[in-house]
Amino acid sequence: MSLITTSDTQPITIQLLKAEALPEWGSTQTSTTRDWLERLQFKAQPGQIGWITGDDASPTGAVVGWDGNDDLASLGALPFQLPEGVYQLATDVSDLQLTGWGLGAYQFDRYKTPERAPAQLLIPERNDVEAVSNMVAAVTLIRDLVNTPADDMTPDTLALEATQVADTHDAEVTITVGDELLQAGFGAIHAVGRAAAVAPRLIDITWGDPAHPAITLVGKGVCFDSGGLNMKPATGMRWMKKDMGGAAQALGLAQMIMAAGLPVRLRLLIAAVENAVAGNAYRPGDILQTYKGLTVEIDNTDAEGRLVMCDALALAAEETPELIIDFSTLTGSARSALGPEVGAMFCNRDEVATALVAAGQASDDPVWRLPLHKPYRSLLDSTVADIVNSAGTPMAGAITAALFLESFVGDCPWVHFDIHAFNTRPRPARPEGGEATAARAVFDYLQQRFGP
Ligand code: BES
Ligand code: MN
Ligand code: ZN
Repeated sequence: MSLITTSDTQPITIQLLKAEALPEWGSTQTSTTRDWLERLQFKAQPGQIGWITGDDASPTGAVVGWDGNDDLASLGALPFQLPEGVYQLATDVSDLQLTGWGLGAYQFDRYKTPERAPAQLLIPERNDVEAVSNMVAAVTLIRDLVNTPADDMTPDTLALEATQVADTHDAEVTITVGDELLQAGFGAIHAVGRAAAVAPRLIDITWGDPAHPAITLVGKGVCFDSGGLNMKPATGMRWMKKDMGGAAQALGLAQMIMAAGLPVRLRLLIAAVENAVAGNAYRPGDILQTYKGLTVEIDNTDAEGRLVMCDALALAAEETPELIIDFSTLTGSARSALGPEVGAMFCNRDEVATALVAAGQASDDPVWRLPLHKPYRSLLDSTVADIVNSAGTPMAGAITAALFLESFVGDCPWVHFDIHAFNTRPRPARPEGGEATAARAVFDYLQQRFGP
């Protein structure tokens, strides 16, 4: 843990300083400190570190330049910029900034021993220790799930992870596995996952007081996306261990909600499958019977995410909750439009969409709305089934995918996030690899809407 509440060793005090505040602060320091900082050309530029020494030249504190922005980045680089050790802050910071320290300290250490530990920070008493720790823990869970390679994150492992989170919070878990999916009517989840060595499954978790407003989270849990018989080329397949990133968001968000004790009745649905190739793999031209009763003609087996999601979403919509929120690493098209660092959002309620964009801004988890442009729905018309799983044109790929999902949700209030769930470059508080995308924004929104 990089954010701690007690320490046996004497912490080093950090003074955070904006560049313009340097002269005034300097005038309160000893001439020795001033000389040193001048010689080191300390200008309090963001990220710049200076040391304050006592008379015996031992460091008595650090002064760190920062921009003071209320975001993850303002403290997010410090855990690895500062030497190992325990620190405390002389400057007030926000819970979001503190969260940035915690997230910047993340390392995926399951397969490689880290070169060093992150610098540790004593959480200031004025901050909400529990809220910050819960958030860091949930994002860490999301990142670990996404970073874990497909061979160690199979559909059964994902189900186990979800069950562990559920058990911690006394939630109820039902898992439908393999051929049971067919009996229960989930023909699409079964078809996508049946060729894999580990059977496909639908994880259904419920938590909370049934009298509270019902919120349902749905996650795309494609543990590896080879593309199926319409196999992906090498570059397209390389990072497809992260194709369960939507499920990771939904599970991490569920953990945030349960840990905070938000007064909602929560349901979490995860369709966990591997899109693999074998003699029994589903094929282009096949027609699937979905849970909603609609038939789907398969144009492309690489458009598998919308198939597993359509069954899970139809199940979610059956009980018309207050809101359905789905997270899916659904299309390359969403990435072309917004890049990996902004989540694409589709929503059939304008006021919910507006509030979510604002929540994303406030929580430094940006999401941007794309339109559910109805006229494109005809691109999914099939001559032999109710709908086809992939449009004949690559244009507006994220929109046609969202419209496909909408056909299974009906008019139930619904938000769909088409996300990358992965940092392709490191930034402060955002190391390369699996990432929480849109989960923190949604938590912020749900807290505002349903919180005390
Ligand atoms: N998992 C992919 C989408 C994806 C690809 C997300 C790359 C992030 C990075 C999804 O299952 C997929 O293959 N989508 C296809 C759909 C197409 C076949 C209609 C796509 O976007 O190319
Ligand atoms: Mn695919
Ligand atoms: Zn996929």
